[in-house]
Amino acid sequence: MAVNIKLTDKDLLKSKYDAVVYFVNDDSDLLDYKSLKKISPNIEKLAKDKKFKGALGSVLIVPTFNDNFSYLILMGLGKTKINNEVAFENYRRAIGSLVKLLPTHNISSVGFDLPKLDATPEYIVEHTAVIAKMADYVFNVFHTDKKTILKTDINIVVSTALVKKLKSALDKGLLIAEAVNDARSWIDLPANMLTPADLAAHAESISKHEGLKCTVFTEKEIIKMGMGGLAGVSKGSELDCKLVIIEYKTKEKNAPTVAFVGKGITFDSGGLSIKPAASMETMKEDMSGAAAVIATMKVIGQLKPKINIVGIAPIAENLPSGTALKPGDIVKFYNGKTAEVKNTDAEGRLILADALSYAVKHYKPDAIIDLATLTGACAYALGPFFSGLFSQHDELTQRVLDASKVSGEAVWRLPLTDDYKVAVKADVADLCNIGRKDYMAGGTTAACFLQHFVGETPWVHLDIAGTAFNVPDVSYYRRATATGVGIRLLTELAMNWEK
Ligand code: BES
Ligand code: MG
Ligand code: ZN
Repeated sequence: MAVNIKLTDKDLLKSKYDAVVYFVNDDSDLLDYKSLKKISPNIEKLAKDKKFKGALGSVLIVPTFNDNFSYLILMGLGKTKINNEVAFENYRRAIGSLVKLLPTHNISSVGFDLPKLDATPEYIVEHTAVIAKMADYVFNVFHTDKKTILKTDINIVVSTALVKKLKSALDKGLLIAEAVNDARSWIDLPANMLTPADLAAHAESISKHEGLKCTVFTEKEIIKMGMGGLAGVSKGSELDCKLVIIEYKTKEKNAPTVAFVGKGITFDSGGLSIKPAASMETMKEDMSGAAAVIATMKVIGQLKPKINIVGIAPIAENLPSGTALKPGDIVKFYNGKTAEVKNTDAEGRLILADALSYAVKHYKPDAIIDLATLTGACAYALGPFFSGLFSQHDELTQRVLDASKVSGEAVWRLPLTDDYKVAVKADVADLCNIGRKDYMAGGTTAACFLQHFVGETPWVHLDIAGTAFNVPDVSYYRRATATGVGIRLLTELAMNWEK
């Protein structure tokens, strides 16, 4: 990794960095030309000439020809006097753009004062670290001609008293980013390089490292336990499916237990209901939910929240073959319910049905959150910037919405009401794995299917089909790669559950 983030109390203007950075808002009250002129006497005129007004995404980079800094960089923040959440996201985007800009100008050290934003210094430092490290992510394992990666120090200037105080916020940010980037690196690996067994092995190694209990059930055990959904989906593939369970236990007495469940299809061809070639191209991403849950457990293991967490990931490959599930087949799940599989491409709900049933039976959790690249319908409804939230539990929904705001991972609630429930009833079994055509709303009918496996447990389903991979125009993500969505939100949820 190329960026190294540090806290320092050394006065910015008395320091020597390749570049000094100022964050400038649209309303321009952050733009204090007096101190900027000490660095670059012509800055006011230059900004005018270049029509730099601090708009979001705009950058002014000027050589300074002075002894301390080679460049002065102004990063536009857009309007900061808007909804605070939007304003802070603008800052995240500016940090992302800055990190991407540095190598293009060969800048190996930058410094800036902790920006004056409507947030605590802890929050600003943590999020600066998360985003700078996320923006730094590259997936270059398979380029044989490796470009050398420039190392850059990012110095955040704070008061002497704050240097020590903010250290844990910085470390927390670095830890979260590491987990996000781990998940991204698994998701970005193609299906021939990341099998169900490989993903389960990552879960085991993380658990071992963090001292968490990890159980990996084999396909044989999964069949024996009566998990007809997970075993059924895996039948078409020569690879064995896995069910990963990672447990974190707090030392607090009478603490609640929360289950995080993530869909882990290492490749989704659609099965016999095969996908058109273009829709299949990125289907290595279909284990993004599982990757998020497993990577979150690493953060949990280190930050030690005051609640119990169990992370569950059903993992399989969905392929057509002579042994694959066929449209019309009926499967029986772990909780005894049955479903007619009308479309083998609606496989996510089949593996999640068993995983959710397992969570309910063995942990009796106080809440379940599942993450799944579940439906194209949700991706089309919301696009790449919001994950879909489905729940009938308003209190848990509010918790997730709050965690979404704080973490910066946007979600948007979509309907889940009793009206839709008949859509997944079948004539020949309890359920049908695709929703009735006249009900449309594919994201919602998928959620209706899952709901049959959570019983009375408060439950939120997050559909991340649109947000997990190749999100355009967000500076801290990267084209054609995974986003690691979910980890920031789940971490926030776990750490602040009791509040
Ligand atoms: N993995 C897909 C959903 C998906 C689509 C994820 C686009 C990421 C990007 C899922 O398994 C799927 O194929 N769903 C079907 C369900 C349908 C057959 C009811 C879909 O959305 O078309
Ligand atoms: Mg198999
Ligand atoms: Zn599918």
